[in-house]
Amino acid sequence: MCGIVGYIGHRDAYPVILKGLQRLEYRGYDSAGIALYDGSEIKLSKTKGKVADLEAKVSEQINPVGSLGIGHTRWATHGVPNDVNSHPHFSNSGDLVIIHNGIIENYATLKEELIKRGYKFSSDTDTEVLVNLIEDIQKNSDLKLGKAVQVALNQVVGAYAIAVFDIKKPNEIVVARLGSPLAIGVGENEFFIASDASPFIEYTNNAVYLEDEEMAVIRLHKPLNVRNIKDDRIVSPYVQELKINLEQIEKGGYDHFMLKEIFEQPNAIKDTYRGRLLIDEGIIKMAGVEDNMGKFLNANRIIIIACGTSWHAGLVAEYIIEDLVRIPVEVEYASEFRYRNPVINENDVVIAISQSGETADTLAAIKLAKEKGAFVFGVCNVVGSSISRETHAGAYTHAGPEIGVASTKAFTTQITVLTLIALRLAKAKGTMSNTDFRRHLVELETIPEKVAATLKSDALAKEIAAIYKDAKNFLYLGRGFNFPVALEGALKLKEISYIHAEGYPAAEMKHGPIALIDENMPIAVIATKYGHYEKVVSNIQEIKSRKGKIIAVVTKGDTQVRDIADHVIEVPETLELLSPLLTTIPLQLLSYHIAVMLDRNVDQPRNLAKSVTVE
Ligand code: AGP
Ligand code: GLU
Repeated sequence: MCGIVGYIGHRDAYPVILKGLQRLEYRGYDSAGIALYDGSEIKLSKTKGKVADLEAKVSEQINPVGSLGIGHTRWATHGVPNDVNSHPHFSNSGDLVIIHNGIIENYATLKEELIKRGYKFSSDTDTEVLVNLIEDIQKNSDLKLGKAVQVALNQVVGAYAIAVFDIKKPNEIVVARLGSPLAIGVGENEFFIASDASPFIEYTNNAVYLEDEEMAVIRLHKPLNVRNIKDDRIVSPYVQELKINLEQIEKGGYDHFMLKEIFEQPNAIKDTYRGRLLIDEGIIKMAGVEDNMGKFLNANRIIIIACGTSWHAGLVAEYIIEDLVRIPVEVEYASEFRYRNPVINENDVVIAISQSGETADTLAAIKLAKEKGAFVFGVCNVVGSSISRETHAGAYTHAGPEIGVASTKAFTTQITVLTLIALRLAKAKGTMSNTDFRRHLVELETIPEKVAATLKSDALAKEIAAIYKDAKNFLYLGRGFNFPVALEGALKLKEISYIHAEGYPAAEMKHGPIALIDENMPIAVIATKYGHYEKVVSNIQEIKSRKGKIIAVVTKGDTQVRDIADHVIEVPETLELLSPLLTTIPLQLLSYHIAVMLDRNVDQPRNLAKSVTVE
């Protein structure tokens, strides 16, 4: 869950690592720390709090020089966030220093053994156990650091991305990964280590992504030495040329990444269908679907697994795929699926959706589905992520890096990819007429400009936010394709403003939640002009009779809802199944502005992290 950064080369390591940690802070941010080797000793500085707190502490505590170093921004799993539990951690001798992302599940047993052998522990972390285990192995053998790390990792159960170095051999860093991402930037006589490429993209475009169960010994002036931790096989590292740039990663003039990402949606959606939606030829081209068409068309059913916002995108896809392709679809929380002994076999197709491609529950659910023989297709944003590699085939969303913890462009681009898949399958299965197919392609191509038009409601969303920012509760209602949008609207508000919110299918109101309504309850209702419109209007009437405050998202030109709602936000007209791509936008803006007005940390809300790489 955390961010790790390392450097070995000819530059000053401190600024490289500090900037890298700032870029990775979205991954975890309860503590931060750094260890630098200055040519004679290791300088350590660490603190509870943000990278900015670390920066302040470094300037008080150490002279941050040296061209070898490692840094960490933590999301605690073992031991409360405090200075001592922050990484890096030393071994008992003070020779080894480590940073770690993940969990050592059998740390308690290992710790007991080490205590019996005289080791002392100052922190409550699982990480300090690992670094001492490595030291113990080195002490009892003549193994070099790389080998000792390998032996230690073979005794470990859990997940990790680690970087460790030895003060006695300060020309190498050993790194390894299992279940947590680790990228190595390869420069001219220098190497960078990071949880993703953002810390080193300004120095080099060449990266090696370690696979699970791989480790590397990184030595200056030597080629990378990569091997499999379990079977000791030498792996020749694949150096990938990265196409992302720094500007894509930074805020680009917006106050927050979340706002930037909301406004990026027109382009992100275009990037998602670019090269796939070929309007002149009237076709959809998606290699991952094409190559596995038989699997999709013969599937008994499609099971979608995901978490959080990605799960909501899955719910939208359920409606779309069943409507267009007529294959039954089930949507499951990955965390439930993985533990409930699901009935699943080789006749099922599983679609796993994940922005980060690193969500632990989704990854475990994929592994289970594969064991049971299902064909697994991934929809990920992060290229080269664990899920994109674990699945049999897949389609990237190409949304660009999403840094704000609250997913926005990930949601709309996931829906776009899933719509493309549904249309492609419908065409192959013959469940759609040519005219209808063409009509959908043409309309999908107009969505980016309609999203751009919807973004003009920003000022209005801000005005409405000012009125309701102090509400204690919110309800979100929608029907059909827009029911999942109601769930997503509620999740957005909860996670960044900390206001309690619930999403419901509008008609469920009278089965319970209507009891909550009084003059203090704001209710966001998606009331666009489709099949259920009249029914939703009745639901709004029921709420108004109980004095609830209605914020309605309506189709442009609507007058009926305007007459009864307290506020309306218009979205352009589109096909019903594409409407979630528009209706979700005002809800993103509403929660964003409420959170800003409440002075919340919009991009890094409390208790959350961008990718949930632990259970
Ligand atoms: C979204 O706003 C959340 N922060 C969260 O629910 C997220 O969607 C979930 O953790 C799944 O992440 P993934 O898409 O990277 O797998
Ligand atoms: N398990 C380690 C800890 O609690 C690492 C957590 C992380 O990934 O930040 O310190």
